[in-house]
Amino acid sequence: MLWIIGAEGVLGSTLGELCKRNNICYRATGSKEGDVTSLESLLSAAKAIHPTHIVNCAAFTDVDQAEQFPQRAFAINEAGAGLVAKVAHKSGAKLVHISTDYVFAGTQAVPYCEGDECSPVNVYGRSKWEGEKRVFEAMPSACVIRASWFFGKKGKNFISSLLQRMREEEVISVVADQSSCLTYCWDLADIVLKMLDATGIFHFANSGGASRFEIAQEILTMVRKRGIAIRCEKIDPVLSSHFPSRAKRPAYSVLDTHKISQYLGKPPRSWQEAFNEYLSHV
Ligand SMILES: NC(=O)c1ccc[n+]([C@@H]2O[C@H](COP(=O)([O-])OP(=O)(O)OC[C@H]3O[C@@H](n4cnc5c(N)ncnc54)[C@H](OP(=O)(O)O)[C@@H]3O)[C@@H](O)[C@H]2O)c1
Repeated sequence: MLWIIGAEGVLGSTLGELCKRNNICYRATGSKEGDVTSLESLLSAAKAIHPTHIVNCAAFTDVDQAEQFPQRAFAINEAGAGLVAKVAHKSGAKLVHISTDYVFAGTQAVPYCEGDECSPVNVYGRSKWEGEKRVFEAMPSACVIRASWFFGKKGKNFISSLLQRMREEEVISVVADQSSCLTYCWDLADIVLKMLDATGIFHFANSGGASRFEIAQEILTMVRKRGIAIRCEKIDPVLSSHFPSRAKRPAYSVLDTHKISQYLGKPPRSWQEAFNEYLSHV
């Protein structure tokens, strides 16, 4: 039995839908039935579910709010991740924990490998990095998958906001000094199901690291080609400082995915291919 923690989140809900489609036995819990900040709550959920595998998709994911509420961010992303690992260990279940490219400082000019130094620049990144450590302390055989810049049919993200702005405005400004990789949630969910028995840290994202501005330019071309109604005619590149935010973000957090590609025998598909599939569902 697969236990998905963080049922209503972007990844958790996608994973649940994928399990349904593939007739995989699973139970998914939200914070009411399985609160990651409470050992008691997790143990009682585990007792009812009898998991053989656990995927922890629960997190405090609002990067700017984490600066305002660091205690809550650490309670969920650090201590909570550790409690889930303890419960997995106690239940004899395998664990996949989801982490982020924001564990990196973003000062490199080449993609980040799993063994590269972590040095987060914001509270969210620090809480996730500490969470990874708590996971391996409680369960050395756990699997941690770091991904970056989600997009999918649920939730507000860079892509959904970009498309909305393209529909509403003729000229939009997009940040040119932040680069990473998009991760299509369906692709990540599929990968998670293939990594249920893995151990160690793996990076996964769709291929094609790029800045937000470069991605926006390509998306404009793709959307036009498809004849989708938009108002946007021009995209201006701007610096991050154009959109002041509470949290600093890494300038470059492209993930190197060679390790997971070798493990699975296949590289991730490009973000453009995944985006085309996404467009046919929106
Ligand atoms: N979104 C991205 O771009 C991105 C990029 C890289 C990595 N990640 C990582 O991927 C994972 C999934 O992210 P996501 O975007 O799918 O997250 P999300 O949509 O923000 O969902 C997070 C879920 O965590 C649950 N949660 C919060 N506090 C909880 C608690 N105390 N106990 C149990 N559940 C709790 C929330 O449920 P309630 O609403 O019931 O509280 C929510 O459904 C996270 O580990 C995140 O760090 C995300």
